[in-house]
Amino acid sequence: IHNVIFSDSNEASIRVAEEIAELIRKKQNQNRTCVLGLATGSSPIRVYEELVRMHNEEGLSFQNVVTFNLDEYLPMEKSNIQSYHYFMHEHLFNHIDIDPENVHIPDGTVSPDETVAYCIDYEKKIKDFGGLDFQLLGIGRTGHIGFNEPGSHYNSGTRVITLDHITRVDAAPSFLGIANVPRKAITMGISTVRKARRIVLLGWGENKAEIIKKTIEGDISSHVPATYLQNHANCTFILDTGAASELT
Ligand code: F6R
Repeated sequence: IHNVIFSDSNEASIRVAEEIAELIRKKQNQNRTCVLGLATGSSPIRVYEELVRMHNEEGLSFQNVVTFNLDEYLPMEKSNIQSYHYFMHEHLFNHIDIDPENVHIPDGTVSPDETVAYCIDYEKKIKDFGGLDFQLLGIGRTGHIGFNEPGSHYNSGTRVITLDHITRVDAAPSFLGIANVPRKAITMGISTVRKARRIVLLGWGENKAEIIKKTIEGDISSHVPATYLQNHANCTFILDTGAASELT
C-alpha cells in the first residue's frame, strides 16, 4: 500500500476525481470502455461532486464508462432513500451522461432463492467487461471494504453477507435507529476487488485512524479484511491528517 496524506479531504477528493477523469479520457482516446468500481457512503461524496463539476464545466463525458457498485443492503427497494441505488443516482448518475445500461448496482430486491445465481452473474458481468480498471473504496470501522466484514475470505466473490454489529451501529443514524438497518447485504468479494488493476481507498477523519493503522501496519488477516490490500500491486490510500494520525 502506498499512502498519500493530505491536510484536507476536499483537496484530496479533487485529486482522486482528477485521476478518474484522466483514466476516462485515456480510454476514450483508445476507443475503449472504462470500467469503474464505485463505493457509497460519506467518503466518496466529494469525489462524485467534483466529477459532476468536471462533466458540467469541462465537458468530461461518461459515455464510455461502465460502473459496478460494491454493494447494496438486502432487502432494499431501489426507491428507498437509504438504498445505495438511490445514493448513486442522487450523487452521480442523475447528473452525468452515463448510459443507464452501463450502471450496475447489486439489486437489493432479489429473492432469497435467486441470490446465488444473481451474485455469480454480477461477477461474470465484471469479467465480461474485461475487469475493473479502477476501484474506489471507503473503509468501515470493522475493516470492511465493500461489505466484506471480518471473516471474509481472501478468495471471496460477490455474495450475500451478514452485516457486522458495528457496521449496523454506524448506519443506525441514517436509518433512524438500528432496528431499521438491514441485517444483510450483497457485496463484491475480496477477490472481486483485488482483481481491479488500480485501487484507491479513501479515509477521512480521526474516527478512521485506528482501523487505518491496523490495515496498513497490522498483519494480513481475515479479522481486518482491508489488510488483504497490502498484497495489491497498485493500491493507494488517500488519507487526511485525522485518518493518518495513528500511523507510526
Ligand atoms: C460503501 C461501502 C463501505 C463504505 C464504508 C465506509 O459502498 O462499501 O465499505 O465504504 O462503510 O463508509 P463511510 O464512507 O460512510 O465512512
